[in-house]
Amino acid sequence: MSLLFAIESSCDETAMAVLKDDKELLANVVSSQVITHQLYGGVVPEIASRLHIQNISVVLEQTIRQANINLKDVDAIAVTYGPGLIGSLHVGLQVAKTLALAYQKPLIGVHHIVGHIYANQLVDAIVYPCLALVVSGGHTELVYMSKPMDFDVIGQTYDDAVGEAFDKVGRVLGLPYPGGVAIDRLAKEGKITYQLPKPLNDDSFNFSFSGLKSAVINLVHNATQRNEEIVVADMAASFQSVVVDVLVSKTLRAAQHYNVKQIILAGGVAANSGLREVISKRVNQELTNIKLSLPPLWCCTDNAAMIAAAGKVMYDLSMFEELDVSAKPSIDL
Ligand code: KG4
Ligand code: ZN
Repeated sequence: MSLLFAIESSCDETAMAVLKDDKELLANVVSSQVITHQLYGGVVPEIASRLHIQNISVVLEQTIRQANINLKDVDAIAVTYGPGLIGSLHVGLQVAKTLALAYQKPLIGVHHIVGHIYANQLVDAIVYPCLALVVSGGHTELVYMSKPMDFDVIGQTYDDAVGEAFDKVGRVLGLPYPGGVAIDRLAKEGKITYQLPKPLNDDSFNFSFSGLKSAVINLVHNATQRNEEIVVADMAASFQSVVVDVLVSKTLRAAQHYNVKQIILAGGVAANSGLREVISKRVNQELTNIKLSLPPLWCCTDNAAMIAAAGKVMYDLSMFEELDVSAKPSIDL
């Protein structure tokens, strides 16, 4: 039996979780700051760190109460140490180090994206070799994994992350932050009527979303100058379909090229209903021998359950950190 306590505070969610063995979550508490950041149209780093400081002891208390555990009984403390906002990371890391020192527990430093990838394991064991499509607010990567904790980034974005593009397009369309959620909702009501460029439609496994984002911004600005209305739901549907098409096409091609047994989605944009629908359909039709794993909606966006899941894999491999580990705002996989 193992019991892991996990902390995530890399962006605007203060989160803690307790994981028993591989899958049993005794607690999974997420305190979101989204309402505050919505006032500014995006995450304000200084406000995020202050809110983490304000919230973290409440989240700690609530997590311990919900899990009904004593911290002296946990086997290790897992924490996101990067990448993310430096001030936000510091708050969670400092609490993790303090608990590790006070209770004499090993500390596990988890890469945020590794957490997103291993969120899938809360549902189904990952089958290797596998390919992860990582799509979040800060990352867009295709990651080949031949074995646990082995990450080969075979493609990535040259500019904006896909979640960032969703959020910027959302903002120019006058939608609330985070734009990805609003665009996904509106895309269901809209039709694909706007002609948008296919972003980096080439033979590589890399991505580029800034040209597509600029195309939407230009269409909106030109329409405003001509006093014409943009049909927001149609623009949402048109933008989302182009993004989904390039993500799914490159993922399927990479899966065949690397001969993987499983494809997994990871990160906040993995919650996108268009992406989930199209990839499910195409894997089913085109790659019948490859298993597709979609993380449940509750563990797509930032949480500590995913950090616990990754922490468990690292615990089994004895991947521990010294107590002087520092926050790493930009660290590669
Ligand atoms: O993984 P995450 O919570 O934080 C980062 O690690 O960045 O991802 C947040 C991103 C935001 O850009 C948000 O707009 C996007 O995930 N997102 C979505 C959806 N839900 C969240 N994008 C598209 N469709 C969604 N349903
Ligand atoms: Zn994330």
